[in-house]
Amino acid sequence: MMNRVLITGAAGGIGSALRESLRGVYPVLRLSDRTPVAPARDGEEIDRTDLADMTEVERMVAGCDGIVHLGGISGENTWESILQSNIVGLYNVFEAARRAGTRRIIMATSNHAVGFYPRAQTIDHRVVPRPDSRYGVSKAFSEALASLYADKHGIGFLCTRIGNFGPRPIDSRRLAIWVSPRDYTQLVRIGLEHPDIRFEIVYGVSNNRRSWYDNSNADRLGYRPQDDSEPYAAEILAAEAGQAKDPIAERYQGGMFCAGEYDAAAPPE
Ligand SMILES: NC(=O)c1ccc[n+]([C@@H]2O[C@H](COP(=O)([O-])OP(=O)(O)OC[C@H]3O[C@@H](n4cnc5c(N)ncnc54)[C@H](O)[C@@H]3O)[C@@H](O)[C@H]2O)c1
Repeated sequence: MMNRVLITGAAGGIGSALRESLRGVYPVLRLSDRTPVAPARDGEEIDRTDLADMTEVERMVAGCDGIVHLGGISGENTWESILQSNIVGLYNVFEAARRAGTRRIIMATSNHAVGFYPRAQTIDHRVVPRPDSRYGVSKAFSEALASLYADKHGIGFLCTRIGNFGPRPIDSRRLAIWVSPRDYTQLVRIGLEHPDIRFEIVYGVSNNRRSWYDNSNADRLGYRPQDDSEPYAAEILAAEAGQAKDPIAERYQGGMFCAGEYDAAAPPE
């Protein structure tokens, strides 16, 4: 039973939304971030922790039955920033959870862990990672570390490769990868409550007609997404008509993450 659920990255976009959608679902939500989080209401605890500090992280996870791990750098950045938040910080959370006996972790991994798959290919949860950035590498690392802590320490992990979270899709790429707040909440609840999860990778996407993903592993776990980006398609495509597009970004699922910083002498094929 989930009594106290920790949300890291609780001051961020997804964390703020889950704070509302999970309110009252579990008796206590512990809301943690390194930046200030709005004051606690009934059934909430506020925590201020930098994930890179193991002593603080151990205090943060103490007494939590499940963790929704959203905290970290959420896009491409310098190696030093990625290293501290998404590699060291991630290790600290999983290792502190092991020491504390936490049984479930929902990991916010990303489409950018597999961003160099072409848009022409439908991929499922079994493909090998093809990260499109230092950020994507950190998300592939999170999946590998989750696999280790599942196999060796029996923590149950649901790794959600989130597409793009928001109230509506914002461009044509996001028509394929959008996830609505209510659908992502459903997925998080499956991760926390499903009786039989050891190590699973699923795509954190809505039921988009234009999806690049075979999300049958999520279906198998009972995920029934309610939303589809299609009603937004005509308006988005009309707004983009005639816009110049980067051909590399258009070829790959990771979009502009694939088109940045590459070696001009050996561009992505
Ligand atoms: N928003 C999306 O569409 C999307 C897509 C794919 C993956 N994700 C992943 O989901 C998670 C949440 O995304 P978001 O959009 O809410 O991001 P966000 O940037 O809005 O929130 C991330 C939060 O993590 C906190 N954080 C960063 N480093 C930290 C550290 N060292 N210690 C403590 N807190 C730290 C930040 O202060 C921030 O509040 C991230 O891990 C992101 O990579 C998001």
